[in-house]
Amino acid sequence: MIPVEKDVARFGALFAAAATTTPQPQPCSATSVIVAGMGGSGIAGRLAQALAERCGGLRVSAWSDYGLPAWADGSEHVFAVSYSGNTAETLSGAERAIELGTNWEAITTGGRLAALAHEHSAPVTAVEPGHQPRAALPLLLVPLLRRLTLSGIEAQVAEATEVLAEPAGDAGAIAAQLSGKLPFIYGAGGLATVAYRWRCQIEENAKQLAVHHALPELDHNEIVGWAAPPGNAVIVALREPDEPARVAARWEASRAVAWRDVPVVECRAHGKNPLARWLSLVQLGDAVSVELAHLNGVEPTPVVVIEELKRRLEE
Ligand code: F6R
Repeated sequence: MIPVEKDVARFGALFAAAATTTPQPQPCSATSVIVAGMGGSGIAGRLAQALAERCGGLRVSAWSDYGLPAWADGSEHVFAVSYSGNTAETLSGAERAIELGTNWEAITTGGRLAALAHEHSAPVTAVEPGHQPRAALPLLLVPLLRRLTLSGIEAQVAEATEVLAEPAGDAGAIAAQLSGKLPFIYGAGGLATVAYRWRCQIEENAKQLAVHHALPELDHNEIVGWAAPPGNAVIVALREPDEPARVAARWEASRAVAWRDVPVVECRAHGKNPLARWLSLVQLGDAVSVELAHLNGVEPTPVVVIEELKRRLEE
């Protein structure tokens, strides 16, 4: 197993490799797509959904549960994304797609998912084995994006490759501000999905709890809870350059009314297009989680609890 910290350090190189080695297949013709996947694999679908919401081109619904949504009627195209190919929820999504007679395909290293796809003549995109699923995000994301008719996606992949070749930012300094704290990670639009990635990476790599929420929604609920915050709370604000004035105003107003006494660590995305911007902050968050693991004195790679839970559920 390749250590997570090694993959995190070469996130940009992994993305570039995926961008050059993944063939550019015909995007699937469906206008509505469901991407089933959990955890580190599921984040690929969430990012694809956020990109579709921002750029248009088709409807993408990320699904992280058993089966498929009740509204799925066979007219959608289903992607079952599971790095191991053995995740129960994603397998049951593929099984539901088969029941519905839906067109579906798998993105995986193998496992039962690849076997199921072969049995039913569904296409399989083979992903390089040997990584932790969450560290393989570029290897799962690029082939998925290339199958979707997202507006301007090739130019976005090209720009992301350039942006991710640059260092992510001062991950060590940010980690020092989050050490021993409860980070509340916030982002607007697609950066809410990136906030979720930060949370998952801090939890899995640094073995530390974190919270995430989305702006503007948090201004209508969570913000009230800041009347009595935990003493170790710190806010991480994920922001895009030249964000819309109404979003910038919302950050400032939220800070003025609720976060006056809370430290706020602000992280700015790099790049022009949403994909590059969002991934620049994924890259930074991944690096922060590894630095935080070192500060916490834990190994980033193992996720013993997840494995134990999967074993128990299989017994
Ligand atoms: C492990 C990780 C987990 C897995 C999840 C689903 O690195 O991040 O969140 O991604 O348990 O497993 P896969 O990705 O194999 O379907």
